[in-house]
Amino acid sequence: NNAPRQWRIGMSQANNAEPWRQAMNDQIAAAAARYPHIRIEFTDARQNNAQQVADVETFLQQGIDLLIISPNEATPLTNIVAQAFQRGIPVIVLDRKVRGDQYTMWIGADNRLIGRKAGEYTARWCREQQRSPCNVIELRGLEGSTPAQERGDGFREGIAGNPDVRIIASQNADWLAERAAPLSRAMLEANPVVDVVYAHNDPMAIASFTMARDLGRDPDSILFIGIDALPTPDGGIQAVRQGQLDVTYVYPTGGAEAVEWAIRILERGETPPREVILDTEEVTRANADALWQKYGGR
Ligand code: FRU
Repeated sequence: NNAPRQWRIGMSQANNAEPWRQAMNDQIAAAAARYPHIRIEFTDARQNNAQQVADVETFLQQGIDLLIISPNEATPLTNIVAQAFQRGIPVIVLDRKVRGDQYTMWIGADNRLIGRKAGEYTARWCREQQRSPCNVIELRGLEGSTPAQERGDGFREGIAGNPDVRIIASQNADWLAERAAPLSRAMLEANPVVDVVYAHNDPMAIASFTMARDLGRDPDSILFIGIDALPTPDGGIQAVRQGQLDVTYVYPTGGAEAVEWAIRILERGETPPREVILDTEEVTRANADALWQKYGGR
């Protein structure tokens, strides 16, 4: 029988409700559709660590040939990922990391670098605008997820060159617009002078912009920075083009790359690199139209 073997891949998603994760799933499905002999099954943990552990356990019970996982938080998912790996199942970790080294490979963009670029942009902008002091409020992602830590740390490195820049308030909005809105209200009301809003993703940045405007603050006097830059109507590139955000950073989902590596591991027996680092790009009003075209915005 020369028919190619059918491969079963489990894709464990942290939270389908977030648009960026929907894009990741779509890219995985589109890439997989090019290979008729692989079947991908998706689970959605709805931002619940215990649910995501159970999702992977179910995959292991049913039998999968390879696991792709974008873990909700690092520590709670480390053990189940290690179990899969120790059973000899190749594991591709996407975007958010787990602890330790018990997985096959990690694919994602450099979140520390993105944070540093955002910080350097802030430091430069504050100098050019002669904001002294230059007051920043930060909206952070889910605390136990590695990009939140890395985007926060990188930003602090990036602003270090300008002593006028001060982070005057920092709150955890768990990556969610609906949490970012009330937290932005509280931080804006508590701080009459806010120069910069740095949010760890675009949905939180856009929610903060909207809140500032609704509170009667002049949003044009505040620098709004987000991350993700999805080329969709509600996404970050469009938000820059429409003047809600000033800057955002392309954070590729890695969905297509994960499927390519799955094929190379399963079919060609390749040993992948430990890490595949995806490129980012700074999106500003100067290049937003061009990047909208480049990334096939629609
Ligand atoms: C979606 C998301 C993105 C962010 C990524 C970080 O859940 O919050 O907006 O860039 O996760 O892991």
